Amino acid sequence: MNIARRSLALSLLTALLILTTAACISHEQRDAEALAPPPSDAPYRNPNLSTDARVEDLLGRMTLEEKLGQMTQVDIGYLSDPRDVGRYLLGSVLSGGNSNPADNSPDGWADLYDDLQQQALGTRLGIPILYGIDAVHGHNNLQDATVFPHNIGLGATRNPELVERIARATALEMAGTGMRWNFGPAIGVPRDTRWGRTYEGFSENPQLVGDLGAAAIRGYQTGASTESAWVLATPKHWVGDGGTEGGIDQGDTALPLAELVELHGSPYRPAIAAGARVIMASYNSWNGEKVHGSRSLLTDVLRDEFGFNGMILSDWGAIYQLPGSESEQTLQAIDAGIDMNMVPDDYRSFISTMRTLVETGALSAERIDDAVRRILTIKFDMGLFEEPFADRSHQATIRSDEHLELGRQAVRESLVLLRNENETLPIREDIGHIHVTGRFADDIGAQAGGWTIDWQGVRGNVIAGSSIRQAITNAAPDGTEVSFAGSTADGADTREHADLIVAVIGEAPYAEFEGDRNNLNLHPTDRALLEAVSDGETPVVVVLLSGRPLVLTDQLPMMDALVAAWLPGSEGDGVADVLFGTAAPSGRLPITWPRSNDQIPIQRDGDRGGLWSRDDARAAGYGVSEASDSSLSPDELAALPLFPYGFGLGYEPGDK
Ligand code: BGC
Ligand code: BGC
Repeated sequence: MNIARRSLALSLLTALLILTTAACISHEQRDAEALAPPPSDAPYRNPNLSTDARVEDLLGRMTLEEKLGQMTQVDIGYLSDPRDVGRYLLGSVLSGGNSNPADNSPDGWADLYDDLQQQALGTRLGIPILYGIDAVHGHNNLQDATVFPHNIGLGATRNPELVERIARATALEMAGTGMRWNFGPAIGVPRDTRWGRTYEGFSENPQLVGDLGAAAIRGYQTGASTESAWVLATPKHWVGDGGTEGGIDQGDTALPLAELVELHGSPYRPAIAAGARVIMASYNSWNGEKVHGSRSLLTDVLRDEFGFNGMILSDWGAIYQLPGSESEQTLQAIDAGIDMNMVPDDYRSFISTMRTLVETGALSAERIDDAVRRILTIKFDMGLFEEPFADRSHQATIRSDEHLELGRQAVRESLVLLRNENETLPIREDIGHIHVTGRFADDIGAQAGGWTIDWQGVRGNVIAGSSIRQAITNAAPDGTEVSFAGSTADGADTREHADLIVAVIGEAPYAEFEGDRNNLNLHPTDRALLEAVSDGETPVVVVLLSGRPLVLTDQLPMMDALVAAWLPGSEGDGVADVLFGTAAPSGRLPITWPRSNDQIPIQRDGDRGGLWSRDDARAAGYGVSEASDSSLSPDELAALPLFPYGFGLGYEPGDK
């Protein structure tokens, strides 16, 4: 090598060294800059700037780790240390159905929330967390909240204005405890009543579901964006949750795309128009493919066709039902369109899997930015940066007189009178002795159903409210004797002297797949009770507490009156209002009542001009009542529902 060449080589080497060092320094400098806390006057902290400007400023300052944390939602039960909110830069925490704070009081919830929020605010960028819960019929996990009827009962009211007020009341009770994100309303369209989540839906009719769902969203989200009682709604579960084969929870909905969208997707249009900012994806599959991994359903249909530009939240651990390794599951779901993952347990693993996916280029940095942008937009719009802590002044609304009256009104309006022989109802003023009986007559927990205190609900008078027995005692005219026996055996003597028997029977609480049934017969205990009390003389009024229509065709002759009360919640007094005629029944079936188990699934098929879904029922037409049944052949009769969609009696003759 000659000198000239050697010096060239040397200078090249030097240049390379300098360049490498420069690159190293600037990399380190960038990291150092990124990790320095932003100045207190950083644009994203300025509430006078537009949300877009704040989001872009903040996003530009975030490291990959900070972005991935935002996309992570952890159940409080799995958070090993509250400080992990700060350490892992978590974007959200939730309380699932079984994750109440040990101190289940308004302050207990608010303290829990404020503590976690403090951790989030202590991070470099101080991005507040969002705390999510299932307040699906009032602030139902809070001990002694106002518990409203489940959606199926609200569907019977057909009253969007009432639904909006209930959502507003729920938002206020939530906000007092720091909870600003609700995983509701459920706007699935239950088409097979064997499904254990039937009661979470408003109706088998997508249009009614859409109207009431939109009303609920308005109720939660009413008010200026910085108002501390603005609660984020989450219509769920996109899409087809109510259409699974056999009504199996988390099962397969086998329909052509157009029908899936028409029947199960259409309620999301009014929901989006009403301002929905988050939508929860559904556990179910569509023609064998899990919705959580379906880019066509999450992105092509929901975002592109429906124009939804908010955040898509996964359901509880649902990503891990996708095929493949954890890395493949995560990649598929995030690529398909999931923005935030309700992990809900192993957040460390989710974050490190995501990091690897981004670092190896499998997941694009743009997709991450897109997801984080959607999440931050909501946090800014809700005013969380300005008011991150619980506004405890709203606690005054919890079980306020106004909310109790609203609950009672909702119960009244949700009752559907299905049968009323010889004007058994309303109960006469001069009735001497009412005997109240049945497993659920004195059981507020059974009235409330699933998603109350616990995921699967509770039994007994363990939450504030009025049981039906108490309500009847409260409302009975002066001088009326009201006796009670929960079971037949100990009630036999008393019952013999009664002028009227009120039997409260139905379904014990359940939620999700635990409520799936292949047969919806009345429970054997309830059938035995009816046999025991119906002596052919004393009139029997049945109040049915259930999340769906039960098969009771054979027992109907033993019921002089039958009231479908659904799952009315804490305010049993509303049931007495109707029994005693202070209010006339006005509810209408939001769902078809089957005559037999073989008939299920059966529903009015609005798209096809009001015919039954079963071919053999088509000829019989829609809306045939019991009265005209005699003109039908046994086969035609067997194909008809016991009570059609929309059925409901009033107290005036001809009042249907
Ligand atoms: C349910 C959702 C619920 C979530 C959080 C899931 O199992 O499907 O409806 O919001 O849990 O509790
Ligand atoms: C429910 C959660 C519940 C959990 C109990 C989930 O499927 O949605 O809310 O707490 O199961 O394991």
